[in-house]
Parts: sequence; C-alpha cells; structure tokens
Amino acid sequence: MLILPGLIDAHVHLRVPGGEHKEDFISGSSAALAGGFTTLLAMPNTNPPLVTVENWRNTQSQAEAQALCDVHHFAGGSEAHLDQLPELAKNAVGLKLYLDATFGPLRLQDPAAIEKCLELWPASKPICLHAELDSLRAGIELAERHQKHIHVCHVARKEEVEMIAKAQDRGINVTAEVTAHHLFLTEGDTQRLGPYGDMRPRLQSQQDQDALWQHLGTTIEVIASDHAPHAKFEKEGFESQKAFLIAEKPLEEEQKRPIPPGIPGLESTLPLMLTAVAENRLSLETLIKLLHDNPKRLFNLPEQPETWVEVDETAKYIFPDHPLYTKCGWSPFAGLRMTGSVSRVVLRGKEVYKNGIINYSKEN
Ligand code: DOR
Ligand code: ZN
Ligand code: ZN
Repeated sequence: MLILPGLIDAHVHLRVPGGEHKEDFISGSSAALAGGFTTLLAMPNTNPPLVTVENWRNTQSQAEAQALCDVHHFAGGSEAHLDQLPELAKNAVGLKLYLDATFGPLRLQDPAAIEKCLELWPASKPICLHAELDSLRAGIELAERHQKHIHVCHVARKEEVEMIAKAQDRGINVTAEVTAHHLFLTEGDTQRLGPYGDMRPRLQSQQDQDALWQHLGTTIEVIASDHAPHAKFEKEGFESQKAFLIAEKPLEEEQKRPIPPGIPGLESTLPLMLTAVAENRLSLETLIKLLHDNPKRLFNLPEQPETWVEVDETAKYIFPDHPLYTKCGWSPFAGLRMTGSVSRVVLRGKEVYKNGIINYSKEN
C-alpha cells in the first residue's frame, strides 16, 4: 500500500449554479474523493458565471455547506463586470480568463477589457488562461508587461509548451498545467470516441503528446483533470432525445444547442498517472509534485492536517464504463487497462472514502 497526500485538482467544473444536472457539489466532491483528491479548484464558467461578488459568494458558500472535500472557486473575468475584480480578488483562489471559445458564456474578446483584468488583478494570485496558440502568445506578452503570474490551463500542443518554456527561460512568471487526457489520448482516438472525445483544447497529434511528456515535471508543473462533465443526452445531441420530446413538437431553441465539449476526469486522472508510474513513464515523486506540492504552492492553498490517500499501487483492472460518482455517468477511458487504485481517503482525521463507499456525514 502507498500513502499519498490529499491530492489537489487545480481545474474542475462542478456546474453549480445552473448545470446541476451535469454535476453538483455532492456528486463532484464524491468523485473527487473516489479519485484521491481532497481539494478542488473550481472554474467560474457556470450559469450565471462567477463574475460578480454576489454570484461568487453564493456559490462558494454552497460549496462549503455541501461539498465533501475542500472547494475553492476562481473568479471569472468579464467585460461587463470589471469593477468587481478588486473585491473578488480578496477571496477567489485566482482569476480565470477565457481568451478562446469553449463551453459557457465567458469569453473575453475586447483587448482593452483583457488589459484591464491584468491591471486590476493582484500579482499575488494566479491568472489562469484558457488560451491556445495566438491567444497564448498574447497572454504571455501580457504577463511580461504587467508583471503578473499567468498559469496556462491545459496546454495541449508542442508549439505551446515550447512557447511557455522559452518564456520561463526569459524569467516571465508563467506556469503550466496539463490534463491526463492530453497525456493519454491523441487525435487518433477522436473517431472512436466521437462526442465523448471532444473537448477544448482538442486532442492533438502524437508528436504534441510526446512533447507534453518531455516537459512534464519541468516546464509543466501541474496535472489537473479539467473535469468537465456533460450529460449523455447532451453529448448524443438533443436530436437523440426526440423520442422523449412531445411528439411532433419542433425542438425548442434551448434544445438545439451544439454538442458541448468537455469530458469527466476526477475519477480517472490518478489511476492514469499511477499506471504511468507502474510503467516507469513517471516517478512517484514527480506525480506527488504535479498533483499536490506544486498546485499547493502556486495557488497558496492551506494545509489539510491529518489528511492522506491510501493507494493499492498493484491493483490491475479495466476502467469501468460508468465511473462511480460523477453524475455524467461515462468516461472516455472506459475499457482501458489501469494499474493502481484508491482504496481509502482520510480528510482531517475522518475516513471519507473506503473501497468505493463515500462517507456522506458532514460531522465528525
Ligand atoms: O472542453 C472543455 N469543456 N473545455 C473548457 O475549457 C470548458 C469545459 C466545460 O466547461 O465544459
Ligand atoms: Zn479551458
Ligand atoms: Zn476547464
């Protein structure tokens, strides 16, 4: 048996408010514990998004009341609510800026507004970027000019990781994160997976993936899941639901939404990384840095005393079609051979997970 610290997932979407049919604080934090995570950093692209102090506070207090592990929320940058940033900066774990298109209402396109976000946000807390290629280049330039800490979410391409490495060499305060799916899946899997392999950034080439592994633990300091659950009926397209809709009635606008990008990852990230350790692709020491020490330091997270994760590093199994706790009920890793599973999680002295079962009591 192996003992790990309570792991930190620095990038998850828990869908509260507005998307609770995809995930909520109870299901999301249960999935976290089953996956060895005791701290989650949650993204602001909710509905409504966490761009005002009021929305941020409501969501954060709901998390504190309901979640079974620690949840810290990011604030989102939006053109219409720039005035909220100084107050949001006092409590949010960081700022998230969406410079490229993805799921949700938060996309920043006005260069003046982006500039303003950089100006208003304190240097002591990271500004996380959803940015690819050209917008990443622009983001790095902003970090340099404003002397702020930019954390690049889910880096997916060779060109991007090399761009970041160069910026780091020049002393720019840029850190980077990679997802387990970009480390384990490539564009070669997209046809097999269909909508279940669609996310932003998209899966890339083998050459891109090789570069991510090469920079893992150096240029790239954090592994995060980018847990982005969507219901099966949304992935299949609302057309697939026609049979359930009132006969003959045309689809409502709401039901014609495009298939949302994003895949769940809370319950598969650690098993995948443990598999990499078993296959000597990664050391256990680096795994702990990427999933605990580095995110703790970069996001200035509090200690969790008497907290640990017990792992059976020899367990061999096939990843199930349905992960145990995420509400979405599917995984792009279904059917994959894995080595290493979580057997028990203790959070602040209390057993919160054992052999597949969550302890739902909030009291000790
Ligand atoms: O694929 C993605 N899904 N990428 C993102 O950046 C957002 C996420 C979501 O919220 O579903
Ligand atoms: Zn993103
Ligand atoms: Zn994300």
